[in-house]
Amino acid sequence: MAEKVHIITYGCQMNKADSADLAGWMEKHGFELHASVDGADILLVNTCSVRQGAEDRAIQMVRSINHNIKGGCPRVIGLCGCVAERKGPALLKELPGISLVIGPGHFYRIPELVRDVLDTGRRKCLVGGEGRFGPKTTRPRVQLCEMVKVVEGCTNYCSYCIVPYVRGPERSRSIKSILDEVKELVSRGAREVSLLGQNIMAFQVEQGRRPGEGIVDILDGLSDIPDCWRVRLVTAHPRDIHPWFIRALSNYPIFCPQFQMPFQSGSNWVLDRMGRGYTREDYLEKLSLIRDTFPGAGLYVDVIVGFPRETEKDFLETLSMLEESRPDRAFIFKYSPRPGSKAAHWEDTVPPEEKQRRFLEAERCHGSIALSSHQSLVGKTRQILCEGRSWKDPSRFTGRTREGQIVVYPERSGDEKCLVSVRLESASRVCLYGCAI
Ligand code: SAH
Ligand code: SF4
Ligand code: F3S
Repeated sequence: MAEKVHIITYGCQMNKADSADLAGWMEKHGFELHASVDGADILLVNTCSVRQGAEDRAIQMVRSINHNIKGGCPRVIGLCGCVAERKGPALLKELPGISLVIGPGHFYRIPELVRDVLDTGRRKCLVGGEGRFGPKTTRPRVQLCEMVKVVEGCTNYCSYCIVPYVRGPERSRSIKSILDEVKELVSRGAREVSLLGQNIMAFQVEQGRRPGEGIVDILDGLSDIPDCWRVRLVTAHPRDIHPWFIRALSNYPIFCPQFQMPFQSGSNWVLDRMGRGYTREDYLEKLSLIRDTFPGAGLYVDVIVGFPRETEKDFLETLSMLEESRPDRAFIFKYSPRPGSKAAHWEDTVPPEEKQRRFLEAERCHGSIALSSHQSLVGKTRQILCEGRSWKDPSRFTGRTREGQIVVYPERSGDEKCLVSVRLESASRVCLYGCAI
């Protein structure tokens, strides 16, 4: 009988795409996917190392497994992904209950490594791989909105960030393999794809192309796939977005004008020490061109508070940047020193209570912006791609606008997986409520 595998995923969309591929490889090698850790023979935990908190949560979870599982502990526990890469063999000592430590560069070998542990009981650590894209795989379950990785790794070395160290340098896929993958996903029911990269603008830049050129080629190819309705880009480094690219995007009806463009800080001094390569003025100028070109464009940002030596004045500039840019969604993070990154050598000057205060203040500031920006849409009609029942309230359907806002409305038969026009009637910080027309 096939061994049952349960996969738990932490971290970014890239990690989620990796886990979806991993599930495909496991199935192909004769394992059976299992929806719960209870009763699983194998547990694979795909981890994130971007902040200490993310790392601690995954390790804590693995530790608690031995005590809490009803059907007995899984025979093989593997810790995979970015924490595996950062900590390496030390994890085998730290967590005696695990058998495998596997970095992102060796993901496609996991089925074979799991089989080896089952046969021999030998524990193994495999990190430091070049992180190539694995062999072609078939996702076991295809969703309406799918993720497709186009560029792996990062070569930016923002001073606070661990990603370049755990994911390696930028490496792009070929346009053909991306288009083939999307065709396959679409033939199995996907209608929207998010193209993923730590910095999507880096696609094929390592091959000497200008940032964005390769993305335009992908959009050309995707526009010829009849049932591919919508495409999102996740995430774009503001430094690499140029006016020609913004204008080029407007030629593609499939492009969803939801810009995931983190600014991190509103202070030029902090931005410089983060190594971001743009100023607040550069960012706002690009944003204004985006909003001229795509009226109502959605904006998602990431913000870090409490960076080393961030003063109250710097922090106030971040708040004013939130007010000026008016993002639909802001992911706000308290700075967390990452061993090995450049900023980890600098004193972590902002005390935890002060980081918490700035965090809450930034959340509050963004909350009222998100609410008022959602309220400004009330009374309008937007097209959403209906993803089916809302998990919070199964009597309602949910979907996203092209600009990325989440819309919830009373169920209506026949809407699932279709493009639906919804009149927006009320708003909250996180979503809009409406009625299908
Ligand atoms: N590649 C993406 C970001 C990946 S990490 C990009 O460049 O846009 C996701 C977010 O985590 C970052 O945008 C940043 O806001 C946050 N982050 C990264 N390192 C961090 C750290 N050391 N402390 C706190 N937040 C961090
Ligand atoms: Fe990290 Fe900067 Fe690369 Fe984003 S662009 S993954 S923040 S180093
Ligand atoms: Fe985390 Fe690794 Fe993604 S560190 S943010 S899972 S690339």
